[in-house]
Amino acid sequence: MAKPKRRYVCAACGSVSHRWQGQCTDCGEWNTLSEEAPETAFAAKHDLSSGGRRIAFESLDTPTPPLARRTTGIGELDRALGGGIVPGSAILMGGEPGIGKSTLLLQAAAAVARSGGLAVYISGEEAAGQVRMRATRLGLADAPIRLASATSVRDILTTLADGPPPALVVIDSIQTMHSDMIEGAPGTVSQVRASAFELIRYAKENDAALVLVGHVTKDGSIAGPRVLEHMVDVVMSFEGERSHQYRILRALKNRFGAVDEIGVFAMEGHGLAEVTNPSMLFLTGRDEPVAGSAVFPALEGTRPVLVEIQALIVRLQSGATPRRAVVGWDSGRLAMLLAVLESRCGLSFSSAEVYLNVAGGYRLSDPAADLAVAAALVSALADKPLPMRSVWFGEVALSGEIRPVAHGGLRLKEAAKLGFDQACGPREDGEAREKLRYSAMPGLSALVDRVLASA
Ligand code: TYD
Ligand code: MG
Repeated sequence: MAKPKRRYVCAACGSVSHRWQGQCTDCGEWNTLSEEAPETAFAAKHDLSSGGRRIAFESLDTPTPPLARRTTGIGELDRALGGGIVPGSAILMGGEPGIGKSTLLLQAAAAVARSGGLAVYISGEEAAGQVRMRATRLGLADAPIRLASATSVRDILTTLADGPPPALVVIDSIQTMHSDMIEGAPGTVSQVRASAFELIRYAKENDAALVLVGHVTKDGSIAGPRVLEHMVDVVMSFEGERSHQYRILRALKNRFGAVDEIGVFAMEGHGLAEVTNPSMLFLTGRDEPVAGSAVFPALEGTRPVLVEIQALIVRLQSGATPRRAVVGWDSGRLAMLLAVLESRCGLSFSSAEVYLNVAGGYRLSDPAADLAVAAALVSALADKPLPMRSVWFGEVALSGEIRPVAHGGLRLKEAAKLGFDQACGPREDGEAREKLRYSAMPGLSALVDRVLASA
């Protein structure tokens, strides 16, 4: 038999390579490759003369009962999950340490337990006493949660098998779990996968909803949740800036529903509070116009959220390479937008430092934000504030053209509702202009002219 090859697995994305490298060739992370136990060799072809059982094919139109979803009792969580938790499903909850995953899931477990469901919360990171203290602080001490501190998957499954299957099992976190079916320390790719595999199988066989917490760390010191993405039904990401109050729960993958709804929470003294009407959250309370600030009517699923984008331009005297720093937006997209502004509109940012910030710790990924970012940049460059109650949206093409975006009408309606009276956007999006003064922008140069003309 051939000697099994060495394998090196990336802790960030789980890809395998056969020699060690400093940088993962798949995801580009540095220092995330480590050696894992080799896979046992197997025969390349099945011997069909023994063993196999015929499987029955089914047709797509066989009636199936609708999914029985269970509400968690936390509306924003249910919304992000696409309407509640599906029994027997496996959910991965990713997020940076300290963002509030344990808090949210303790609250969810308490809500399920209070509504009569059996909820199990297993912490591999904190002692039961610590979790109890947090529950007391959150006002949840009376909820009949079954709480334990454990890291051995075998112990956990033995305990769960000994009693009625729970409605909800929270494992906090999967990176602390250890399966004795396989070698390796907790947190390595193979351990994380093996532990998750066993727990997911339990959930499927017993119709228990399973939530696995997965820390996301930048340095790849523990296997990231991405190595589990294909094994679970739902991947959620809990985002926000730790220094800000607001948190956004987003579904990145959902086998049972859409992934465009978000849950919005505020971290308060007594845990995470639901924010059911987030449209005003990410606006700073401005009294007078400031150069470099533009409001973008963002859309999260079906909910409009108005977000303030701030730009700061600092002219450099020396020939040093100017900095570009971005918080809450893609830096590649900023570079693109600056290039379009330079080459199509004749503005020069090359000797200036550019800082871009999305207020309130919000993260934008919608290309419709291009126009608002461009407006903020031009306004900052020219030191001319934009009109106070104006919103900006549209996608900028490399040609400098402003392209239409989805749901222009919905964005404008919300802006009008919140007292904005001017909007600039793509030519095609004038539908809901009744309450707003709408300026259709054919291209980026029209935007520049308009910003420069504003008082
Ligand atoms: P936690 O749920 O422990 O984060 P994670 O499990 O994602 O690592 O949340 C930790 C932070 O939340 C902590 O820094 C303090 C803050 N927090 C509050 O502000 N209020 C609260 O009621 C609680 C429980 C935590
Ligand atoms: Mg935690």
